[in-house]
Amino acid sequence: MRADRSKPSVGSDRSVAVSMPVEGDARPAVRVGRPLCRLDDLPVGQSRGFDPLGEGRDTMFIVRQGDRLYGYRNRCPHYDNVRMAWKKDEFLNSDRSRIVCGAHGALFEIDTGRCTLGPCLGDSLTPVALDLREGEVFLSHPYAPGLRPRPGRQKT
Ligand code: FES
Repeated sequence: MRADRSKPSVGSDRSVAVSMPVEGDARPAVRVGRPLCRLDDLPVGQSRGFDPLGEGRDTMFIVRQGDRLYGYRNRCPHYDNVRMAWKKDEFLNSDRSRIVCGAHGALFEIDTGRCTLGPCLGDSLTPVALDLREGEVFLSHPYAPGLRPRPGRQKT
């Protein structure tokens, strides 16, 4: 059963998500069939980064508020290729009411990803749809590689 990213669902079917190459990206699609983590690994009110394709950096993150999970790409709409965490797994401001970009301090609503303060006011983070199955968190849609590969560092 699929669900809106803001309302993780519980089901019993196996989860298999497949990443698709982005336009102009020659890298092959990579299957992602394993869970990102267990729900219990995500404390309420905390955030955590993930590297679903093994790119060597967290290309997405999840914020847990109560029983709800919110997933976003780790990419600020202010500048491409800027990672947002100000410290490993730290994507929230001090009172944990907003997502914050560690580069220039833009603030984003946790439930919508919309920027409410900062240089990208009105822009939004890119959501990542999630499924919750039997206490484990999965990607629910194809997942593309993160930041553009640097010359000479492209994976084959
Ligand atoms: S790169 Fe995120 S606010 Fe500037």
